[in-house]
This record gives sequence, structure tokens and C-alpha cells, in this order.
Amino acid sequence: MEKSHLNSKRKKLSIIGAGAVGTSVAQWAFARNIADEIVIFDIIEGLPQGKALDLSQSSPLWNANCKVIGTNDYDLTSDSDVIVITAGLARKPGMTRDDLLQKNLEIIKGVAIEVSKRSPQSKIIVVTNPIDAMVYVTYKTSGFPRNRIIGMAGVLDSARYRTLIAKKLNVSPKDVTALVIGIHGDHMLPLVRLASVGGVPLSELLSKEEIDDIIHKTQHGGAEIVSLLKTGSAFITPGLASVEMAEAILNDQKRIMPCAVYLEGEFGVNGIFLGAPVILGAEGVERIIEFKLTDEEKTALSNSVKAVKNQIAATGLDG
Ligand code: APR
Repeated sequence: MEKSHLNSKRKKLSIIGAGAVGTSVAQWAFARNIADEIVIFDIIEGLPQGKALDLSQSSPLWNANCKVIGTNDYDLTSDSDVIVITAGLARKPGMTRDDLLQKNLEIIKGVAIEVSKRSPQSKIIVVTNPIDAMVYVTYKTSGFPRNRIIGMAGVLDSARYRTLIAKKLNVSPKDVTALVIGIHGDHMLPLVRLASVGGVPLSELLSKEEIDDIIHKTQHGGAEIVSLLKTGSAFITPGLASVEMAEAILNDQKRIMPCAVYLEGEFGVNGIFLGAPVILGAEGVERIIEFKLTDEEKTALSNSVKAVKNQIAATGLDG
């Protein structure tokens, strides 16, 4: 395992919410050995403790040696390096991510207050939906600088996009490079111009109709899983996507990933969180990688912006 200059002290990852996504985060983080200590917090008594115990018993099988603690006491999350927030309700069939907003708003405000005062130097990754609004709420409530508050969406959406492209072309997903920016919702932008397969532009390999179909499936990938699961939403890849981000920060990897970040003029957008490619390292978001959009992409991005602004207005924390 790669070690960085951060390793002079033990690396601590806390996960808030021990539901489906929180469990997935814990499991992948444990298996990939990204922290020395993982704390799983939930308000339900026994739930995080049971999951932590279960996970820790996989130690001999994974050959992982990380300490895992389950708790209902926020104090045990103190001095975390990275916190992943997954607390809150998940979608049921027929619900949009926006339907969750009012229910998850109060939960996220409370969580942000509790974790930020106990881990004032932490980087916080927000997974709870609707992500672009919940990450904004965390930013406003914690008072942390923008580089330390990050939304998980683009890594997941881009993984879905890449998988669909790979399946259609019957090639390894490893060789597909593709990026989704904008909102984590129906108006997300799976970029075609920047998608390539083994260095060859996607538009050379598939017809417009085929690409449009992949874009539609990417945009509605989450809803498809909700309608199949019926009792909740995706959790396996959301968990792994969060762990990719957490690992990049904990190990100062300078990975480039699309994340929901607070924009201050980048891409012509100001004062909201939106998916964009960033460099993730020990400081959290170390740089937002801005690039020129075409007119068509600008128009599509403006739909994302409108949708996120509506969500933020609904939180009552705008301005
Ligand atoms: N503090 C901590 N945990 C909380 C709180 C709170 N205030 N309120 C609820 N929780 C916990 C619940 O007890 C539950 O264990 O959050 C957990 C949510 O788990 P699930 O219902 O299984 O939901 P999950 O599928 O994990 O999704 C969580 O992530 O991807 C998003 O859309 C998804 O918003 C949803 C979130």
C-alpha cells in the first residue's frame, strides 16, 4: 500500500450512516486498506456496532488489519481525516432525488454540525441525495473552506457511462475514458466530445443514436436500479466511488476525478456545487480543472445549473 507524508499519524475515516451505502463504503475502505481506523456512526442503536463487528471479523480473510468501530456517539468520530456522509433516506420507486430534499435537509444539517466541530480539519465527502444540494448544506453549515467539502456523484455517473460504452463496444471498461459533469440528476452531462476508447474518439466508433441511448441510460442509471431494488437505491458502486475519493485524499494521490465542487466562476458558474473534474489530494480539492465548453455543452450545463439552483432555493440556505 502506497504511503504518503500524511502517515506520520494514524489515518482515520468516519462514515456517517450505517445503511446500505455506509456499509458499502466501510467494506470497500476496509478491503482496500485505505485507513488505519474506520468509525461507523448511526443513530440506530446496535446497527453500526453490529456492522463494525461483522466487518472486523473479515480481517483474516482480507488480510486487512484496520481497526473498525461502530458507534452511536459522535465523539468517537473526533479528529477524522476524512468523513463520508451517507445518513438519510434513499429513493423508493417513483421518487426523484429531489423528493428526498426536505427529508434529508434536517438530517444533513445536524450531521454537518456534529462532525465539523469534532473534526475541524477533516475533508467531508457527501453522498446523501440530492447530492448537489446536500453538499451545499454541509458547506454552509460547517463553514469549512470549499476545498474540504466534496460531493460524490461524478465518479459514480462516469463509471456508469464507461460501463455502458464498454458493453456496447464489447471492450474492457478500463480502456474507456469518459467524463460526466453537472448535476447528479436527469440533467447530468455525459460528455461525448471528451469520451474515448483506447484513445479513439467515441463519436468515431458509435452512431449518434447509439451514443444518445448510452447518454439516456447513464442519466437514468440510478432510477433503473431503484425500480429493480424497490426498497432502496444503488449502494455497491456509490460506496466504491466514495472510497476512490477518500483514498485519493488520504494517500495524497492527486487523482483527477469528477466531483461536486463549489464553483466560484469556473465554467461561468458561481455559488453552487456542481460536478466538474478536480484534482483530489491531501488538501481535498486541490484544483478545479476548467476547460472550454462548446455552445451545446454550455446550454446543457445551464440546465444543470437551473436544476441545482432550484434545489438550493428549496433548502432555504441560498444567498
Ligand atoms: N444521523 C446518522 N445516521 C442517520 C441519521 C442521522 N441523523 N438519520 C438517518 N440515518 C441513517 C439511518 O439510520 C440509516 O441507517 O442513515 C442510514 C441510511 O441508510 P439506508 O436507508 O440504507 O439508505 P442508503 O441506501 O444507505 O442511502 C443513503 O445515500 O446514495 C444516497 O440516495 C441515497 O440519500 C441516500 C443515502
